[in-house]
Amino acid sequence: MLMITGATGALGKLVTARLADRDDVLVGTRAPAPGQRRVDFDDPSSLDFTGVTTLLVISAGAAEDDVVAARHEAVITAAEKAGVGHLVYTSLSGDGDHLTYALAHRWTERRLLRSTLRWTVLRNGLYAEFLAAIAAPGPDGTIAAPLGDGRLAAVARADLADVAVRVATDPAPHAGRTYELVGEQPLSGTDLAEALGGRYQPGTLTATREAITTAAEALPFQVPMLLSTYSAIAGGFLDGTSIADNQLRALLGRAPRSALEVYAATVR
Ligand SMILES: NC(=O)c1ccc[n+]([C@@H]2O[C@H](COP(=O)([O-])OP(=O)(O)OC[C@H]3O[C@@H](n4cnc5c(N)ncnc54)[C@H](OP(=O)(O)O)[C@@H]3O)[C@@H](O)[C@H]2O)c1
Repeated sequence: MLMITGATGALGKLVTARLADRDDVLVGTRAPAPGQRRVDFDDPSSLDFTGVTTLLVISAGAAEDDVVAARHEAVITAAEKAGVGHLVYTSLSGDGDHLTYALAHRWTERRLLRSTLRWTVLRNGLYAEFLAAIAAPGPDGTIAAPLGDGRLAAVARADLADVAVRVATDPAPHAGRTYELVGEQPLSGTDLAEALGGRYQPGTLTATREAITTAAEALPFQVPMLLSTYSAIAGGFLDGTSIADNQLRALLGRAPRSALEVYAATVR
C-alpha cells in the first residue's frame, strides 16, 4: 500500500490525481473525505501507518522550524514503528540553504539518515507557481519584486508531482538517493515581465518587508521566509548553476515543462 500525506495541498492533489486509478493508494490528509485517512503530523494518534509499504511524505513546512521539525519527527517515528518499507520525502533543493525554511528540510534529511527506514529525498526547487505568487505584476503591469538581477531555476509543480509519482510507485531503485530537482531555464525579473508584456522595476527589500509585514494575511514566520527567498534569488544562489547533478529531466524521462509558461499562466 502506498500512502500520500498532505494530499489536499497543491502538490498532493497533483500526486493523488495521477494515482486515482490505483486501488493500492491511501490518501492521507488532515480533513479526510470518505475513503481517505486522517493524517495530521500534529496529532500522533492519527499517524497509523500499519500496512503501508511506501509513504510519500509531503513536507508540512508552513510553520516555525520547531513545529515543522516536530511534525516530521512524528511522522518518521510513526513510520519506523509501523515498519513502513520506504519513505519518500519532498525536501528543498541543495542551493536553497540560504533560505530560512531550509533548516527544517535539512533537519528532516538528517533524521532520515539515522532512521531505520529506507528513504529517498526529493530536493524540490522552488515552484514556478510560487514565483507567480511572489513576483506577480501590480495593477499597472509592473513587476516590483526585489529580485535584483538574479534568476530562479523555477520548476513546474506538475513536474515535481510526476517525479514523486515515479519514485513512490517504484521506490526500490531510488533507496538512499537524494535527487536535486530544479528548472533548467532560470528566470529573471526581466524574463517574467517580457512574458507578460509588462516591465520589471525591482523594488527594495525594505519596501517589500514593509508591504509583507502590513499585509493582514502574513504570519510572523512568513516574513523572513519570503525575504530570504528574494535575497537568495537576487544574490544569485537559486539560478541552478550550483546544482551539479540536476535529476529533473532524467526522472521525468522527458524535457521539463516550461517554467516561464507556468509562471505566466498562473499570474493571468
Ligand atoms: N518548492 C516550493 O516552491 C514550495 C513552495 C511552498 C511550499 N513548499 C513546501 O512543499 C510542501 C508542499 O507544497 P504545496 O504546494 O503542496 O503546499 P500547500 O498547498 O501549502 O500544501 C501543504 C500541505 O501540507 C499538509 N500539511 C500541513 N500541515 C500538516 C500537518 N500538521 N500534518 C500533515 N500534513 C500537513 C496539508 O495537507 P492536508 O491539508 O491534505 O492535510 C497542506 O495542504 C509545503 O508544505 C511546503 O513544505 C514548497
